[in-house]
This record gives sequence, structure tokens and C-alpha cells, in this order.
Amino acid sequence: MFDIVLFVVFPYVAVTVAIISGISRYRQNRFSYSSLSSQFLENRTLFWGSVPWHYGVITLLTAHLLPLLFPSLWGDLLSDRIRLYVLEVTGLGLALMTVVGMTLLIVRRLRSPRVLAVTSTADWLLLITLLTQVAIGFWIALVYRWGSGWYLHTSVPWMISLLVFQPEIQYVTALPWLVQFHLLAGFFLVLLFPFTRLVHVFTYPFTYLWRPIQVVIWNRRPPQKQRP
Ligand code: HEM
Repeated sequence: MFDIVLFVVFPYVAVTVAIISGISRYRQNRFSYSSLSSQFLENRTLFWGSVPWHYGVITLLTAHLLPLLFPSLWGDLLSDRIRLYVLEVTGLGLALMTVVGMTLLIVRRLRSPRVLAVTSTADWLLLITLLTQVAIGFWIALVYRWGSGWYLHTSVPWMISLLVFQPEIQYVTALPWLVQFHLLAGFFLVLLFPFTRLVHVFTYPFTYLWRPIQVVIWNRRPPQKQRP
């Protein structure tokens, strides 16, 4: 019964709340759909934290999504030993990048009084959950080898069973507790999505690709000696 609450009820509740609250936040407060940059408050550590964090997490999320979208293609990809090794090592390296990046982002918020002043409780909850999630992901990759393979035969069928509304939890209930925690923390992050700065993930400026170019002109008087 408890497993049903965790692996069926909780994911559905998380996704439903995320969709409804996400749409309502967008409709009521569209300009809050942002990560509210703090670059002008502190720039140096932000660079060293944000760059590894974003490159790492975006690639890892894509790698988590691909087996779900193309399971047989992913299976073919892993059928070669060299490709499997390359994927595992790359995944481990990317996970380490995210752990280092997020640690720096958290330390930055603690050490810079100006950034600390603009950090909300929701920010702390999000940053700490993200750090926990990537640290556990890194640990799983290290301890339970060949995750790119067993993920395809455990978590993927479980998520597909949820997607088609025929939940089959036996795929994940036998997994080690750390892996189960990682799956549930993923849905917890989905739940946090509409209430935090995570919404910025859906504000990627794709429209910049086709909008007309923008001409920026300085509206400043030139220095005295340059004037005729
Ligand atoms: C779609 C691609 C993404 C873009 C273009 C993007 C862009 C940004 C930008 C511009 C910032 C603000 C940095 C600043 O303070 O100036 C930021 C912060 C942040 N992003 Fe992203 N992001 C993306 C994806 C993600 C993903 C997938 C996650 C996590 C799952 C994420 C988590 C964060 C977090 C936690 C912060 C706050 C860091 C801090 O200020 O302490 N981002 N992102």
C-alpha cells in the first residue's frame, strides 16, 4: 500500500499540481517566469558555479529522457561495450560537474551578503533538493554500475506505465532504496517547479531565432574631448 502511495499517487499528484499551478502562475504573473538573475550582485562565483551546473544538468536530463522516448534505440546504443563505457564515464563526469557547480552556487549564496539578502526559503529548498538529487545521482552511478542499462529495464517501463495510466510499480519497488529515493526526489522537483525559480527552464528564448534583429544605440553624450 505504501509503495502505491509513493510510486503511483505521489507522481500523479506532483505532475498534476505542477501543470495546474504552472499554468495559473503563467496566466496571473507572467513576468515571474524567470530565474531572477543575481549576476549584478555577484558575478565571479556565479560563472564558475552556473556554467558547469547548466552544461551538466541539461545534458544529464536529456540522457534521462532519451531512453524514455526511444527505448529500442537506446538499447542498440548500449549493445556495444565501448559505447557503454563511454556513456558511463561521461555520465559520471557530468554528474560530478553538477555536484561541483551546485555546491559553488550554494556557497556563493551563503558567502555573498547581497545575494543572501535576496535568497528566499523556496530558493534554499530548491537548491538543497537539487544538490541532494545530483549528489545521489553521482553516487548511484559510482556504486550501482551500468545504470544506463538497468535504467532502461526498470525506471523506463515504470514511467511508461504511469504515462499510459496502467501503473506497474514492480519495476522499481525491488530497486535499492537510494535509487528509489532518487526517483521520488525527481518527482518532488516536478512538484517544486511552479513554486520556485525552476520555471525558467521553460523560458528559453527560442523566439530569438526568428525575431528581427535588435539595434542597440548608446544614448550617452560622448566624452568632452571627442566633441567637435
Ligand atoms: C533551458 C535551459 C536553461 C537556461 C537557458 C537557463 C538559464 C539560467 C539563467 C540565465 C540563470 C540565472 C543566472 C543568474 O543569476 O544570472 C539560471 C539559474 C538557475 N538555473 Fe537555469 N537554465 C536552464 C536550465 C536549467 C535546468 C534544467 C535547471 C535544473 C534542473 C536549472 C537550474 C537553475 C538554478 C537552480 C538556478 C539558480 C542558481 C542560483 O542563482 O543560485 N536551469 N538558469
